[in-house]
Amino acid sequence: MKQKRIIKELCVAYAMELETVQNYIAASVNLDGVRSEVIKKALLADVPTELMHAQQLAGRIKTIGGLVPGSLDLPRGQKSLQPRKDTTDVVSVIKGVIAAEEAAIAQYNKIIKLCDGVDYVTQDMVIGILGGEEDHRREFVGFLREYEKK
Ligand SMILES: [Fe+2]
Ligand SMILES: [Fe+2]
Repeated sequence: MKQKRIIKELCVAYAMELETVQNYIAASVNLDGVRSEVIKKALLADVPTELMHAQQLAGRIKTIGGLVPGSLDLPRGQKSLQPRKDTTDVVSVIKGVIAAEEAAIAQYNKIIKLCDGVDYVTQDMVIGILGGEEDHRREFVGFLREYEKK
């Protein structure tokens, strides 16, 4: 029974990673202006990392008896990362990234707890991914500190 819940939550995380890939690509292309250059580069560098997370999750879903969902079964929810009309609004993108990373961190913590005493291999893998998301969040919290200075 618990295995089924773990698979379900891994599929949610899988959808979140792929949505992150889509929105980071969009933001890394859409943003304009001198102040956006560092942010665009950071987002571009994160795309392969988030894609790798999705692939790790897919592999694990299969290994523990699940089926990797197709695109029509993937939920969407990153409202904070939708492209803005003002393509120089770097601060709102930074805040959107922090929100996305925080959502990922919450989802991975949930899976880690679910796996306790049940599935240590999934737990170990997800702990590794969680560490990466915490690094991403820290990087963008640092950007926000500077970009919000008047
Ligand atoms: Fe990720
Ligand atoms: Fe991330």
